Amino acid sequence: MQQPNIILTGFMGTGKSTLGRRLAQRLGYAFVDTDDQIEERCGCTIAAIFADRGEAWFRQQEEALVRDLAGRQGLVIATGGGLVMNPDNVAALQASGRIICLSATPSEILARVGRQQQVRPLLQGENPLADIHQLLEQRQQVYRQFPQLVTTGRSIDQLVDDLLGLLEVPPATP
Ligand code: S3P
Repeated sequence: MQQPNIILTGFMGTGKSTLGRRLAQRLGYAFVDTDDQIEERCGCTIAAIFADRGEAWFRQQEEALVRDLAGRQGLVIATGGGLVMNPDNVAALQASGRIICLSATPSEILARVGRQQQVRPLLQGENPLADIHQLLEQRQQVYRQFPQLVTTGRSIDQLVDDLLGLLEVPPATP
């Protein structure tokens, strides 16, 4: 494989899209955010998809998109946080490149998702911090199978360097 894809996964608010965009610039790869692609294909927001068609339908869109993306190369892909709960998605993405899992503390996640404009349908309950803990607990075993990158307390540039280190990409020559 000439340019294996680099796939960033992990819980909501761990910085997948921000970091993915910057990493893609550094490597000269194209950047794809799975939520953005699904919104584009459907012509509506993720929040509207969950409200009008339900989570199961959204997961089908994720799976169809993964099948397309896994057939391409030279992509940095930021996944929605639940996409890797489907083992078929993991197998397809793993065959197309490397998956790295970003993490952050629950309180940092809450602060970040609160600041962002995007609405997270899975965190709309009375107590989002409790929801974060519960979902993390449910997903931990799946997330744990991938190489980990802790994002709390690191700048974007530091994280891009960390990622390049994890991926063993040599530094650019001046
Ligand atoms: C989800 C994460 C969201 C989005 C949807 C469901 C999840 O993406 O796909 O709200 O199940 O964790 P981000 O991880 O980019 O917020």
